[in-house]
Amino acid sequence: MRIDIITVVPGILEGPFSHSILKRAEDKGLAKVRVHNLRDYGIGKQQSVDDYAFGGGAGMVMMIEPIASCIAGLKKERSYDEVIYMTPDGESFDQSMANALSLKENLIILCGHYKGVDERIREHFVTREISIGDYVLSGGELAAAVVTDAVIRLIPGVLNDETSALTDSFQDGLLAPPVYTRPADYQGWKVPEVLLSGHAANIEAWRFEQSVRRTQERRPALLAKRYKGDNTKNG
Ligand code: ADE
Repeated sequence: MRIDIITVVPGILEGPFSHSILKRAEDKGLAKVRVHNLRDYGIGKQQSVDDYAFGGGAGMVMMIEPIASCIAGLKKERSYDEVIYMTPDGESFDQSMANALSLKENLIILCGHYKGVDERIREHFVTREISIGDYVLSGGELAAAVVTDAVIRLIPGVLNDETSALTDSFQDGLLAPPVYTRPADYQGWKVPEVLLSGHAANIEAWRFEQSVRRTQERRPALLAKRYKGDNTKNG
């Protein structure tokens, strides 16, 4: 999988992809993330990427031309499954959307800034708009990093223990059960007996029960959705 991220502040994205699981994915040749500085496609001596909003009002708007020429350059090299725009008014990102995106070959992610992008970019280039939550970030970069991380770790072979993504919170529509490690008794705080029993079926049953209980307590809407069979809306 290849993800091309278009941004006016590439520096924000220098860190996340050169560490840990994402670096391993790149080293194994399973995922490639490339960050493109929109200013390289800017207009005139100033390499402008934004301008005042028609009709007035505070804040600048990202112009069509730099984004169009950056996207056109990328599309000359390969075809893309989606051109994603990160925006707080997009579709809510969740695990089922991450699953669906992890099956794609090539993605472009466009990060908004200032007052956003000229609406014609959304109409003519963007195929999907994603929000990572009901709050406003100063730009789409951190949101793009969140989506990229959630998607890349699902590509088969990226995680060492292939089953571990399958037991993540949300992967089966439930929150993950509690986990413990040594010591089995820390100053009287004991690990649940069943986990020390070596009885695989009992351990599995206990984990499932804990998952259901935790989901019921913390995110009851997820449980309702799971039992309505509405857990695959994006995939
Ligand atoms: N850009 C600014 N806020 C955002 C959000 N919540 N999700 C996605 N992109 C954003």
